[in-house]
Amino acid sequence: MLIVFLFGFLLGLAVKAQDDSPGFISLDCGLPEDSTDIDRTTGIHYISDSGFINSGERKMIQPEYLINSLGQFHTLRSFPQGIRNCYILRPPQGKGHKYLIRATFLYGNYDSINRLPEFDLHLGVDFWDTVTIGNASIPLIFEMVHVPSSNDIHVCLVKTGLDFPFISTLELRVLNNSIYNTQSGSLELYTRVYFTKLPALSIRYLDVLFSEISLVTRV
Ligand SMILES: *[C@@H]1O[C@H](CO)[C@@H](O)[C@H](O)[C@H]1NC(C)=O
Ligand SMILES: *[C@@H]1O[C@H](CO)[C@@H](O)[C@H](O)[C@H]1NC(C)=O
Repeated sequence: MLIVFLFGFLLGLAVKAQDDSPGFISLDCGLPEDSTDIDRTTGIHYISDSGFINSGERKMIQPEYLINSLGQFHTLRSFPQGIRNCYILRPPQGKGHKYLIRATFLYGNYDSINRLPEFDLHLGVDFWDTVTIGNASIPLIFEMVHVPSSNDIHVCLVKTGLDFPFISTLELRVLNNSIYNTQSGSLELYTRVYFTKLPALSIRYLDVLFSEISLVTRV
């Protein structure tokens, strides 16, 4: 129902590409250092995650998954070492601002094991959600609205069983403080979505959803 609503809304709305704004971080995980990638549907300009984490290994999804997936899902970072591996995001606005944090996961049998992995996602010391990959070709998307109490935002992949955690993209958007009424340090699960029908448009749906909610809340 949500998707149907969004699709209707999408038809009448052009999504602005705001990705060059300060406070917008868009990481295509596993991309070689100094490489970039542009999502042609959203205009989002992704950079390599190499400057935001010291651990993990760069991997690529299997060729048969490349055709029907967006470029930002072609590479990923996998974490065969350690229980907990964290990205550190440091937006220029710093603590006390509201941020939308979005993490996406497309397995694509990158490890050739063909076993759908499960692991946890943490924001700092707080549990965010469990990532349970249900289909190797469908991206899973998690979003959180967060008001950090420190200038560094730690997004952590946490091993909970035998599976190695991985991540395809990680994005951060500074929000207008008037949009949400949250207190410092609070966490708010915003969306958790499987896009089974139209994966190519999934990221844009979420941008549209966010625009819509912003508009409603401002009135
Ligand atoms: C995974 O999703 C694809 C695309 O929707 C579908 O064709 C395929 O049957 C699904 N695989 C499984 C194991 O459900
Ligand atoms: C935040 O929203 C308010 C109300 O719509 C607006 O007046 C203000 O300029 C916005 N601030 C930023 C930084 O966009």
